Amino acid sequence: MVSRVIPVDPFDLVIFGGTGDLAHRKILPGLYLRYLSGQMPEGSRIIGAARTEQDSDAFRAFVKTGIDEFVAEDKQDSEAVERFLSHIEYVRVDAKGTDGWSDLKDLMRDGVIKAFYFSVAPSLFGDLAERLHLNGIADGESRIVVEKPFGRDLASAKALNSVLAEHFDETQIYRIDHYLGKETVQNLMAVRFGNILFEPLWNAQYIDHIQITVSETVGVGGRGGYYDKSGAMRDMVQNHLMQLLCLIAMEPPAQFDPDAVRDEKLKVIRALDPVPSKDIVRGQYRADGDEPAYREDAGDPNSHTESFIAMKVQVSNWRWSGTPIYLRTGKKLRARASEIAVVFKDPPHSIFGVQEGRRGNVLVIRLQPDEGMNLRVTIKEPGPGGMRLMEVPLDMSFADAVGGAGDDVPDAYERLIMDVIRGNQTLFMRGDEVEAAWAWTDPMINRWEDNGDIPEPYDAGSSGPDGSLALLVRDGRRWREVK
Ligand code: BG6
Repeated sequence: MVSRVIPVDPFDLVIFGGTGDLAHRKILPGLYLRYLSGQMPEGSRIIGAARTEQDSDAFRAFVKTGIDEFVAEDKQDSEAVERFLSHIEYVRVDAKGTDGWSDLKDLMRDGVIKAFYFSVAPSLFGDLAERLHLNGIADGESRIVVEKPFGRDLASAKALNSVLAEHFDETQIYRIDHYLGKETVQNLMAVRFGNILFEPLWNAQYIDHIQITVSETVGVGGRGGYYDKSGAMRDMVQNHLMQLLCLIAMEPPAQFDPDAVRDEKLKVIRALDPVPSKDIVRGQYRADGDEPAYREDAGDPNSHTESFIAMKVQVSNWRWSGTPIYLRTGKKLRARASEIAVVFKDPPHSIFGVQEGRRGNVLVIRLQPDEGMNLRVTIKEPGPGGMRLMEVPLDMSFADAVGGAGDDVPDAYERLIMDVIRGNQTLFMRGDEVEAAWAWTDPMINRWEDNGDIPEPYDAGSSGPDGSLALLVRDGRRWREVK
């Protein structure tokens, strides 16, 4: 693969919650990799900020353990790690008090980009934003980065948006959805809008339906406390699957520019029909041998939270009217695989007889693992015996075709953090998008909470509850088997 690393301008990046799990696993190892690739300039600094009492050396030792554990061995270059660590400082800061803020201010430099990563509970966003301003640390050029969950419903998302808006302009706020940083997710836009081939067919006239699947093999063990208050709808659909749906369904933006792209995504969310109960299937995984059931993982024997959800969604606009989009995601399923399958309609007339030759094409975009594209086409079965038809895949693995999404392709966090420094908001959610997504999910969640809806049990290692299969069978369709 041709590697084109363009260094960003020097920056001071403050990570609030610098001693937390996300910083340890993703943010700091990601920054090390960007440093290793030459993208993070020597004049940059990373400042960990948290409540823990420790000095910069202790924090550097903590960062090093994250690199040791979460960076591939062939990228562990001890000299580079030492040089990277020399760019790191630590300051003890009390998000809700006055301690440490003047130390942080003393550390910040003029003349470099200032970014503040809020890798903390959303309840602290307001305190941090306010103190950054009161103490004269942030200015009109500074950027803040916030993580999901961005609220747990429309009201809380609005409250978070308005608390941030008191101190920062929308152009300074970077709301991360790490799905948007995935290589193949961006490829969705390249495939759709960089080729003439697909766009003329990309509508209800030619597409029968679309399936978006994000299937995970892991359970929620270890994070049951958080998950049980969220469930698959809040944890995955409102954000990650919604973003995939937007990219697959949106109109072509006039430019590849942050607001042009986000305007088009917002229109899709606003065009989503409310989903009736009959079109939603919620599931919960059962115990599997020694492996605990969801309720045990969640620590609540009566939990009604869903670890799986499947739904039939309709985008009510000119392009998509009548073509449903089926979503499904869940934990403890058979495979770890995410894909989008665009199932085209059958040809209108078969010259080969009724049964033969009336098969639809299917375009599958594999997001992970083994990123790639696969187009199912009909050909003649080779050899004698008349005109017999068969289906074959035109299969392209991105790794084979262009050398990667391999090792040299930055992971979602690496890319998104560099976009923050570059000041490019295209792959970040705008406040109105997040609110529109909650406005769509809220009534469904309220309905099942009000009705005490009980999710359907499913076997660990299966493809979800039977109801999920029935959701498509009812429409004369079936889920693709993901592997
Ligand atoms: C997170 C969810 O946002 O995304 C997790 O909170 C989920 O529950 C994860 O496992 C999936 O991300 P990825 O990149 O592994 O597909």
